[in-house]
Amino acid sequence: MTIHVRAPGRVNLIGDHTDYTGGMVLPMTIDRWTEIRGIPAVTVSLKSDDEPQLAELPLEIDDPHSVEPHWARYVAGVVAEMQPPVGITGTVVTDIPIGAGLSSSAALELAVALALGFDGDPLSLAQLCRRAEIRASGVPCGIMDQLIVAAGRAGHALLIDCGNVTLEPVRIPDDVEIVVQFVAHRALASSAYARRVAECSTAEAEIGPLRTATLPDTLSITDETIRSRAQHVINENQRVREFADAVNGGELREAGLLMIASHASLRDLYLTSTPVMDAAVEQLTALPGVYGARMTGGGFGGCVVALTRPGALADGWVVRAVDGAHRVA
Ligand code: GLA
Repeated sequence: MTIHVRAPGRVNLIGDHTDYTGGMVLPMTIDRWTEIRGIPAVTVSLKSDDEPQLAELPLEIDDPHSVEPHWARYVAGVVAEMQPPVGITGTVVTDIPIGAGLSSSAALELAVALALGFDGDPLSLAQLCRRAEIRASGVPCGIMDQLIVAAGRAGHALLIDCGNVTLEPVRIPDDVEIVVQFVAHRALASSAYARRVAECSTAEAEIGPLRTATLPDTLSITDETIRSRAQHVINENQRVREFADAVNGGELREAGLLMIASHASLRDLYLTSTPVMDAAVEQLTALPGVYGARMTGGGFGGCVVALTRPGALADGWVVRAVDGAHRVA
């Protein structure tokens, strides 16, 4: 009996730092995958080409966060959440760059869950893997990464309302390219991310859910940092809706301008960009054929994403949306 599963990475086109307040996001899967092949076993033993040490785990795990080597924590998180009756001995192979902000960890979690026999709908799979990620990393992440990796659809991005968890496919037009450029490995991202999540909770304690709050509501927030965070989220939710409309209507210039505005907001109000990412976005948007560009994902390093006319950029990866995580055998 052979197990073979694959889970893609993702890039977020617009809507960052909105998911954990039930906001709007518009990510797509990318044509790079993490694959696991193996056979059923009494424990979990996975070897990765990218890691010197195996992930060797029993089927009962209390604290995934204390597991070594570090990469095995994501495997342990899934095992702890699933409590599978049967383990696996096998190999992990990936062409998703690790630690580059393209959800290599979500892809690993989903691949592990499927390899261990998860049998349920994409939303339940995503929710399980989100809990696994939080237990593994200690970072209070939202649902975006796991949900797009689970529910992605070839040729489409997904407009996701993270509040009531509705998904709407947005077809990527034939006359554009989505180009990802790696800028830098992510640094100090976990603590800064957790602080942003806490700041949003503070804002919500003052003005109610950010998902329904308006800009005028934010004016009553006295702390400038908290007010800025709230304003980013409220504006970003609106930009995501407008971006989806623009792409659906073939208004690519408008879509590009929304990406540029999103980047400016993450840079100035949410403070998750870095000077190197700002420079990359500035250089990209000055080039002919580039509609827009922005940092993508959690920030503090990682990648920038650009929406361009086909062939406009010589550097970077042209990414294509593929189907979400699935069993191959
Ligand atoms: C990380 C998290 C996601 C999301 C993004 C920012 O990728 O895992 O849940 O919050 O950052 O949009």
